[in-house]
Amino acid sequence: MPLVAPSLLSANFLQLQKDCDMLNDSQADWYHLDVMDGRFVPNISFGPMLISFFRKATSKTCDVHLMIEEPERYAADFQQAGADIITIHAEACIHLHRNIQQLKSLGVKAGVALNPHTPIQVLSEIIREIDLVCLMSVNPGFGGQQFIPHTLVKIRELKEMINSSGSKALIEIDGGVTLDNAPSIVAAGADVLVAGNTVFKAADPIATIAQLKKTVAA
Ligand code: DX5
Ligand code: ZN
Repeated sequence: MPLVAPSLLSANFLQLQKDCDMLNDSQADWYHLDVMDGRFVPNISFGPMLISFFRKATSKTCDVHLMIEEPERYAADFQQAGADIITIHAEACIHLHRNIQQLKSLGVKAGVALNPHTPIQVLSEIIREIDLVCLMSVNPGFGGQQFIPHTLVKIRELKEMINSSGSKALIEIDGGVTLDNAPSIVAAGADVLVAGNTVFKAADPIATIAQLKKTVAA
């Protein structure tokens, strides 16, 4: 069964307590928390302050996706805010290896995200050092976009790299995940499904999360 990580970017920010209660009552495994700086991506979302509130609202894993430049400047702030996993973008790091070591020294799980245009081969020398690879299946910045089908090819290649290297990294897919495409994403080798609009725009979010959780590879 895949892990399901609803993205709070699609929540109703005027009733976050209600949305957190819903997630806590659901089979969601992680909170996926999207941080955007208006530079690495053309949108601005939220920072450590809001994440510290999410931390208090749940005992589930807080999966923090940093879509920001120079993530090394803020990693400690996000760890202190309560992140369990911090994912940084390969495209935003000149010294990716150093930044991964920084995350480990902070005691959080280290994730690396790749934009749709970035080949998975950039990870070949560090794949054993990381806990998570987040493959962007849309261009990051906004919820509610269409899944890019070529991501399925990248998932298969990445799975092969992980298996042949002995890495324990999980594969997370972020962007445009729906009930319809989830079976093929899981079949390609994904471990974690991020879902924003699919969960929060659903008539019954709890049932939708349960359905994602029950995804069978197809
Ligand atoms: C996109 C974010 C995603 C987004 C997913 O930049 O990283 O996590 O919230 O939203 P959906 O599932 O609606 O594409
Ligand atoms: Zn994300």
